[in-house]
Amino acid sequence: MPASTKFVVTGGAGFIGSTLVRRLLRLGPVAVIDNLLTGRERNLEEVRGQIEFHNTDIRDAKAVAPLIAGADTVFHLAAIPSVPRSIDDPEPSHEVNIDGTFNVFRAAAQGGVRRIVYAASSSAYGDTPTLPKTESMTPAPKSPYAAQKLMGEYYASVFYSCFGIETVSLRFFNVYGPRQDPSSPYSGVLSLFMKHLLNRTTPTIFGDGEQTRDFTYVEDVAGLCYKASQAPGVAGKMYNAGNGGRYSLNFIWDLLQKIEGVRIAPNYGPPRPGDVRDSMADTASAKAELGHAPRFSIEEGLKRTLEWYRQTI
Ligand code: UD1
Repeated sequence: MPASTKFVVTGGAGFIGSTLVRRLLRLGPVAVIDNLLTGRERNLEEVRGQIEFHNTDIRDAKAVAPLIAGADTVFHLAAIPSVPRSIDDPEPSHEVNIDGTFNVFRAAAQGGVRRIVYAASSSAYGDTPTLPKTESMTPAPKSPYAAQKLMGEYYASVFYSCFGIETVSLRFFNVYGPRQDPSSPYSGVLSLFMKHLLNRTTPTIFGDGEQTRDFTYVEDVAGLCYKASQAPGVAGKMYNAGNGGRYSLNFIWDLLQKIEGVRIAPNYGPPRPGDVRDSMADTASAKAELGHAPRFSIEEGLKRTLEWYRQTI
C-alpha cells in the first residue's frame, strides 16, 4: 500500500469509528467526517492532531463529496443508531441512514475511491427463530432502523454492480467497548449497565432479560473493518461481523455484579417495541473470506470496558 493511501472514516468520532481511526493511523493518513450528533470529539482526544477532522453532516452531499474524492478506502460508519430512536423519530434516521449513505456512496464512486466498507446491522435478520444467523437467510427487518441499514446493504451491492466501486458490507452485532456513550436512553445496553454498575444504581431490563445478543468487542470489529478493506475477491458481498456467541441480559448483569462484587437487583419493564428476541452470528464466511479472528471473550471484553468506564465516569 503506498504511503499516501488515505482512509476516510464517516462517523469517526463515534465509539466504533474512533477505535478504527486509531488502528488506521498506523497505516496512512486518516480523515474523519462526523457531525458530532452522537459522536464526540473527545473520543479522538490524543489522536486529534494527527487526523483531518471535518464537522460535516452526510446529509449535505455537496459538502461531503470533496472530502471523500481521491481517498483509497471509505469506512462508512456514520449513522443515527438505535432501534427505538428510529421508531420514536423516524425522519432523521431515515435521512441519515438512507439518504446520507447514498451521498457517501455516490461521492466515493464519483471520486475514484477503491473500496467502501459499510457498517450494516444484524437487525436486518429480524426475529426469525433460526440461530445462528447466516448471510444467506432472507432479511426480515422489524424496525425503521433495521430497514434503513438493510437498504444501505442493497445500495452497497448495487454500487458495485452498476458503478464498479468495490463495496463490502459488515453486519455489526451489538458492538460494545470503551468510549460507548451511556448518556442517552437510546445508548447501547452494555454502556448503560456499566454506568449503573459503577454508580450503584438500578438498571432497567426490558422484558424478562432472557433475550440474547452476540455482544462483540469493539477492537474485534475495528480489526475486521480493516481486513474487509483489504481482502481480495469480496467486492459486492455482505458478512456477519459478530463474535459468534450469545448471552442473555440477565447473564451479563449477573457477571458484571460478580466482577464488581456488588448485588443490585434490576428493574424489569415491558418488552421494547421493535426488539429482536435472539441474535447470534454465524462467523464462518467472515473467518474464511475476510480472515475474521475475534480475540475477546465476553469476560475479557467486559473487564476491559469496565476499567475504561471506571477511569471516565
Ligand atoms: C440493535 C442491533 C445492533 C445495532 C444496534 C444499533 C439487533 C439484534 N441488534 O441492537 O446490531 O448495532 O441496534 O443501535 O437488532 N435494553 C434493556 N435496558 C436498557 C436498554 C436496552 O433491557 O436500558 C435491552 C433492549 O430492549 C434489547 C437489548 O437490551 O433487548 C439490547 O438493546 P440495545 O443495546 O439497544 O441494542 P439492540 O437494539 O439489540
